[in-house]
Amino acid sequence: MKKSIIISFAFLLAGCSNQVDTKLDVSLKDAYSDSFMIGAAFSTYNFSDRNKETRDLILKHFNAISPDNELKPESIHPSPDVWNFQPADAFCQFGKDNGMWILGHTLCWHNQTPAFLWTKPDGQTMSKEEIFESIRSYIETVCTHFLGKVDAWDVINEIVSEDGGYRDLGWVHALGADPAVVDEFVKHVFRCAEKYAPNTELYYNEFNCWRPSKLTGIVRLVKMLQAEGIRIDGVGIQAHWGLGYPKNEYIVDAINQLAALGVKVNISELDVDVLPISKDAQVIGRSLQDPQYQLEEFEAFLDPYKDGLPENVENQLAARYEELFKIFYEHRNQIARVTFWGVHDGTSWKNDSPISHRTNYPLLFKRDFTPHKAYYSVINVPSGK
Ligand code: GLA
Repeated sequence: MKKSIIISFAFLLAGCSNQVDTKLDVSLKDAYSDSFMIGAAFSTYNFSDRNKETRDLILKHFNAISPDNELKPESIHPSPDVWNFQPADAFCQFGKDNGMWILGHTLCWHNQTPAFLWTKPDGQTMSKEEIFESIRSYIETVCTHFLGKVDAWDVINEIVSEDGGYRDLGWVHALGADPAVVDEFVKHVFRCAEKYAPNTELYYNEFNCWRPSKLTGIVRLVKMLQAEGIRIDGVGIQAHWGLGYPKNEYIVDAINQLAALGVKVNISELDVDVLPISKDAQVIGRSLQDPQYQLEEFEAFLDPYKDGLPENVENQLAARYEELFKIFYEHRNQIARVTFWGVHDGTSWKNDSPISHRTNYPLLFKRDFTPHKAYYSVINVPSGK
């Protein structure tokens, strides 16, 4: 009897701590000022005068910023004779004007990268030597231009496969996907970054780092660089996760294993997908672009919250964010930064991936710029409320 009264009282208290409007004055970055930086990824138009509310959210809550697309190879170097630095320069200027830490994302990636970087004008794939020279020259030009403007680079993005080997895509495919040659390539790319981006942190960035087989491949990559004395300062755990995956123990294990290498651990692209997906879509989910998933009957199942997020899912989102930030906070000595991929739900790529044109709710702020219940759960973690 006594026990049930105590339990009900505890529930009441828990309910109170979740009630909205505790402290909208508390910003995310202030709540975690003793723990890690709080970042967001966005594009230059997100801070234009037409997007004043989004800009206000950025200025209030985040002290670390990543450009969504402006520093990717296809934006910077869209064709062999064109270099397009202006949008990324504007992004860096915004960060500098507002005293923010800035991530350069990303130098070497298979995606959003023009194939002319590894293909000759006659359509033939370049030789290994030509490919090594091509990435060297790209890194020299870009890192020299942004020297002193960015604080860190994601030097390589997503080169490790789910089984811990290398993904046979982009640069790796052009090189013939021989693991020994790709090892050489990875070392070469980091050596170039070390040379042309002094005083700038150098990271490896990856999704599904939590998967044990993939984690083994990432750990191997970091150790390989360290064994040769090549600088790597951190690893980004992208964290495109969902309400029910991955298991928390996998996340903890990934943080611990990466931190044990003596590198900074960054949660670099956090969002929590609330929409139904098939199992295979957890791995970026290309298969769900199949036309059959666009049929009416699938759409009703796959896009259920067009008119708003039901309260029970809002609560699940809050609970998921709470457990994730409890993990991050407990591991605050190992984590340098937690960055959300987007500012509010309307800016998230999760509305279009793995299926386009859905209404998703993966971030802490809603489309109308007001906070989700999850925002309060996150804010309350450090004070233990
Ligand atoms: C990956 C990339 C990011 C971004 C997100 C989704 O995780 O690293 O640059 O493209 O996918 O938008």
